[in-house]
Amino acid sequence: MYLDFYNRLGLGSLLTMALSLVSPRERTLVKHEPALPPSYPLAVRNPYLSAWMPSNQVQTLPYAEPQFWAGQSLTWSVMARVDGQTYSLMSVKNPGDRIRPAVVRSAEYTASHSVFTLTAGSVVFTLDFFSPVSPSNYLRQSLPFSYLTVTVSESLGKEIQVFSGIDGRWAGRPQRTARRFQHANSTAIYSLGVKNAVPYTEHNDMATWGDTIFAARPSRTSKLSFSSGNRGNVHSEFVRSGKLSGHNEAWVPGGIVALSHDLGTVTGSKSVGFAVGYVREAAINYLGKPYTGYYRAAYPTTAEALAHFFDDYTDALLESRVLDTEMATRAAAAAGPKYAHIVTLSARQAYGGIDITIPDDTKDPSDVLAFIKELSSNGNLNTVDVIMPAFPIYYVMDPDYIRLLLEPMMRYLAAGRWRQPYVIHDMGSHYPNAIGHDNQVAEPMPIEECGNLMVLALAYVRATGDTAWVGQYRDLLRPYADYLVDNGVDIALQLSSNDAAGPLANETNLAIKATVGLKAYGALTGETEYSRIADERANLFFHEGLGTDDAQTHFVLQYPDSPDSWKTPYNIFPDVLFDLRTFPDAAHRMSSAFFRTVRAEYGVALDHRQDWAKSDWNMWLAATLDATTRDEFVDDLWAYMTNGKHTWPFSDRYVSTSAKGATPGVPVLCRARPTVGGHFALMALQGPRSLQSAVAKALGETPAATEVLVEMDGDEL
Ligand SMILES: *[C@@H]1O[C@H](CO)[C@@H](O)[C@H](O)[C@H]1NC(C)=O
Ligand SMILES: *[C@@H]1O[C@H](CO)[C@@H](O)[C@H](O)[C@H]1NC(C)=O
Repeated sequence: MYLDFYNRLGLGSLLTMALSLVSPRERTLVKHEPALPPSYPLAVRNPYLSAWMPSNQVQTLPYAEPQFWAGQSLTWSVMARVDGQTYSLMSVKNPGDRIRPAVVRSAEYTASHSVFTLTAGSVVFTLDFFSPVSPSNYLRQSLPFSYLTVTVSESLGKEIQVFSGIDGRWAGRPQRTARRFQHANSTAIYSLGVKNAVPYTEHNDMATWGDTIFAARPSRTSKLSFSSGNRGNVHSEFVRSGKLSGHNEAWVPGGIVALSHDLGTVTGSKSVGFAVGYVREAAINYLGKPYTGYYRAAYPTTAEALAHFFDDYTDALLESRVLDTEMATRAAAAAGPKYAHIVTLSARQAYGGIDITIPDDTKDPSDVLAFIKELSSNGNLNTVDVIMPAFPIYYVMDPDYIRLLLEPMMRYLAAGRWRQPYVIHDMGSHYPNAIGHDNQVAEPMPIEECGNLMVLALAYVRATGDTAWVGQYRDLLRPYADYLVDNGVDIALQLSSNDAAGPLANETNLAIKATVGLKAYGALTGETEYSRIADERANLFFHEGLGTDDAQTHFVLQYPDSPDSWKTPYNIFPDVLFDLRTFPDAAHRMSSAFFRTVRAEYGVALDHRQDWAKSDWNMWLAATLDATTRDEFVDDLWAYMTNGKHTWPFSDRYVSTSAKGATPGVPVLCRARPTVGGHFALMALQGPRSLQSAVAKALGETPAATEVLVEMDGDEL
């Protein structure tokens, strides 16, 4: 099946070439555990540090080129030298005849690691790409770096050296790259930036200010060397001697920066590490003021931040082992192993859209704001209807993120700079410029964003008990609740979150959002009049049938008089999650029965007009359905995720049915969006902070970090 797939992509010859270099006995296909993802996260930590390995390249990993989330190819080469013979482990596109490809054995992902295992002769190498997911630890979460740990094992007294390098494409403008090198204490640090960089600018979604970082420091038992410049020259140094020359020759486009660890004679197993990162000192432009990474309160320079990052490896690794296990176990308990495969692949991507920041001038660590990029759909910043679908992951992992992500907008609204009677759509047209919309023009989604704000505020208070934060904005919230009272039944023509589907008047799912939003506001404030109105409306839309067909088999797309139309009524999920009981169980039973009847090859489309589905909203809806229908939704999303027909970072929008002639099971437009946080909707039913508490508890109970580490890695970084 995979061979066939490679041939369709025209990669057959590359694969054949790779396979012809190994003995027939070794021509095995790579095993993907726990499932085949579209793309493996390598270094995925914020909107500008987002490197992936498309899964169709894993079979030929020694030649493969990783990609930035938006699809640009990158070099991130890894080579190993075993008793003088050099093997390519990853990303050496034109190895020449002195470098042999290692044989890829397996690929695996967890919530925070992607691990590839290869053999080079009799020696086994694993490449562990580790991007911490540690939302409660702002320092760890905000560090804009990711670990690569290379472990050699089954080495019987062989001489081992390990090389890794990256190229100027990481900096976004390969023709205008400036390279710097620094030795800070024992840490070797390369920076790749753009000459004459303009702050807060992007090129094809890559940051073109700030610096790509590539760094390492020697472990207790390895010697570190470095070199940069022409790719062939740098490779030759390593192939010839296993060491790099320490020379940084004139930088040329196409060049690389490289670091090499000499491990000496290895018997058994040993590990060495590298860090890749992307540092922006002025990270975000918030209303004209620079905000910087949270970590810079403690570590103001990149060298200090990196030293801490390496020091933190043991603790970060220990936490990640616990998180990986707890997330997979709790997800499987919520909806089975396939569901666990879905959420664990989603975790790095969900947090990889976010920057945790503080003001650059004061570096006050108590003044934290979070920013999120609407990756790939348009680059908007802190879009309310992106925070909304993603909130289930914050709800279970650290609900403070709901406040941190809303606060930039709340301050802006409280300052009176947005004068429309409904909640603003986003805090900026393009990341990282959080400059609001003083011209009063932002993508208008009036009911959508007003309803979202009510639900998100309630989610935060329910999960944290912090009523003071919402309390200070109470006067701001009430007019938006009143907007839902005044405009939530006879709904003017407007967009909802799924703007690709176009505007509609009287969209039932929006009416449900307005209704649940009012109930949320009532629950939040104790103003029972709003709860009463919400109950009345639920009655109107469900019992009296304004939002259903006559026979009450389903909610319609639009009312009145469109009995055959339908749309996934996912906005009912918060009603279930917060037990608001606005809509009765009968409404959920109705949907449980109905959505089995409109299930296509890859599940249920957004509405009857579309041939595409939204994975986040489908998991929201699934959380309101009976177990049988819920499991069908999970099975269908899993089938799409693992079908081997696509290689982008997890796309939350995909063709679910061939009914309109398109090939089903392939993504549409959306890549790497943080909205995959919505996949955690089924886990959200396990309660607020459920995963956060489980991780904290397990960490409290785990014996000393070192004991665990020895088993896993043999040696530390
Ligand atoms: C280098 O080491 C000195 C002495 O231990 C320390 O004060 C300094 O902060 C270190 N520099 C970095 C960049 O970590
Ligand atoms: C929307 O629904 C209301 C209430 O049923 C109705 O009065 C109004 O005419 C509808 N609007 C449109 C555009 O169909």
